[in-house]
Amino acid sequence: MDLRFSEEETLIRDMAREFARNELKPNAGTWDEESRFPEDKIRSMAELGLMGVNVPESLGGAEAGPVALSLAVTEIAKGCASCAVTLSVTNMVCEVITAFGTEAQKLRYCPKITSGEYVAGAFSLSEAGAGSDPGGMKTTAVRKGDRFILNGEKMWITSGAYAGVHVVWARTGGKGAKGISCFLVEAGTPGMKPGKKENKMGLRASNTCPVLFEDCEVGEDALLGVENEGFKVAMMALDGGRIGIASQALGIGLAAQEAAVAYAKERQQFGQAIANFEAIQWMLADSETDLSAARQLTYRAAWLKGRHRPFSQEASMAKTFSTEAAWRVCDNAVQVHGGYGYVKEYEVERHYRDIRATRIYEGTNQIQRVVIARNLLCK
Ligand code: CAA
Repeated sequence: MDLRFSEEETLIRDMAREFARNELKPNAGTWDEESRFPEDKIRSMAELGLMGVNVPESLGGAEAGPVALSLAVTEIAKGCASCAVTLSVTNMVCEVITAFGTEAQKLRYCPKITSGEYVAGAFSLSEAGAGSDPGGMKTTAVRKGDRFILNGEKMWITSGAYAGVHVVWARTGGKGAKGISCFLVEAGTPGMKPGKKENKMGLRASNTCPVLFEDCEVGEDALLGVENEGFKVAMMALDGGRIGIASQALGIGLAAQEAAVAYAKERQQFGQAIANFEAIQWMLADSETDLSAARQLTYRAAWLKGRHRPFSQEASMAKTFSTEAAWRVCDNAVQVHGGYGYVKEYEVERHYRDIRATRIYEGTNQIQRVVIARNLLCK
């Protein structure tokens, strides 16, 4: 693996870094406090070309590859973890349309996502009774001539109330993974509506809500990919999405570590900076090592994806390790801050809450271990 970033990757990383530092970081605490979705800043990310980093230029994307996307998500997460998940999921949606859509579908939706005309895209897979096991979903899409009628309720949908287009999975055939199809449903389609926003522990500036389908009628041209083969579309998209979550976690961890190092140098106890004490140094050293390992695994998965080589196992390893490493880093950062780490005036309190979701969504880390073990044992 070549660890030198290309000129384009470096440019995107630096641009995302500057935007996060100037536009997101100073406001992230307020958005969290008010549980406010920063729509204008999300649109600004599209204007910077960040909503289709790994999407062809012909569709309005930057065509800069998965490593560039990983770098962008990490930098944005350093400023605002909620914006980073919105960014990551929207890129995943744009990529899945690019990969499986017809020419007409690609031209209809991708430019609207990459330009920011649609503030976000949504990945509407999970349900109340189908989280780790999407093959058990209950939402149906019943064929009526050349139309499909969708009924059911999706849950935990990132940007559910803001997305211009949803990639929606529904049952069109028999039980299990083989009877599922995938549809593109535009916001505002009669019969589709977002439910009440979730009141979350962290990532409070990202929008998460259920999405309800009640006799929601779409044309045959809304079918994404082949009828009854939608489960694989979800799995392939999630392989890439998991690199995004690994990158997001890395960014949260880096922000927490930066805050911990600065605080350790500034905080005086026993007549000197606490950074002089080995007890603090070892926590910071462990965190730095964790972050470095998380970075390598995450870039490796992205690098493999960019070279069109198998990366499912590497994406799951990156997601598992990076989210757990960054969680330890955030915990250390709170510990270094002592009592100040437990109150909202200090940003590490937010990082500690934000990092928690990354071990749950886009496949719990238990599911990632299933994917890793299956790859290992079933080859
Ligand atoms: N790529 C391509 N195909 C794949 C695949 C992959 N990565 N993984 C599985 N498949 C295929 C299999 O080969 C199989 O095809 P065949 O029948 O033709 O052989 C088919 O899909 C079914 O596979 P499995 O039998 O392995 O399916 P399973 O029901 O046992 O599930 C699982 C496997 C890994 C547990 C999967 O269900 C899974 O990933 N669960 C977690 C779901 C998840 O990540 N949800 C996240 C929600 S989205 C979200 O969080 C986004 C957000 O908003 C933040």
